Amino acid sequence: MALRTILTDESPKLRKISREQVSFDERLHQLLDDMKETLDHANGAGLAAVQVGILRRVAIVDVEDVLIELVNPVVLSIDGEQEVTEGCLSVVGKWGKTIRPQRVKVKAFDRYGNEFELEGEDLLALALVHEIDHLDGKLYTDIVVGELWEDNE
Ligand code: CO
Repeated sequence: MALRTILTDESPKLRKISREQVSFDERLHQLLDDMKETLDHANGAGLAAVQVGILRRVAIVDVEDVLIELVNPVVLSIDGEQEVTEGCLSVVGKWGKTIRPQRVKVKAFDRYGNEFELEGEDLLALALVHEIDHLDGKLYTDIVVGELWEDNE
């Protein structure tokens, strides 16, 4: 495994649309393993492949110590609304308020190519839609309500 460099929001790559992941091979597994190590190191809740410079529809979320790997994820349905404080490893040291769905249902493939469905609520719903947005070149700063603020930690 290896740490990968996380692109920041000045990188135009983060605005590109990621392509479908077609092979569930050792390279994908290596990418997912590296993303997990990179996410742990950065102490984040999720990471999309584009954030480490790979324009493939691959993302991970790690909420309440449960790691979920998502390959070619698709949002099937959303329900409700929540106002959340959102941040992103590519928008360093900043936070903002957004309105996100309270619940989301997602379909994706695991690293071996098995399709699965997943329902997430609250923080998990936020993490899922945030990461899937990355695959379409979107950042939470596009939908922030009011101003971003700096991290004071
Ligand atoms: Co992000």
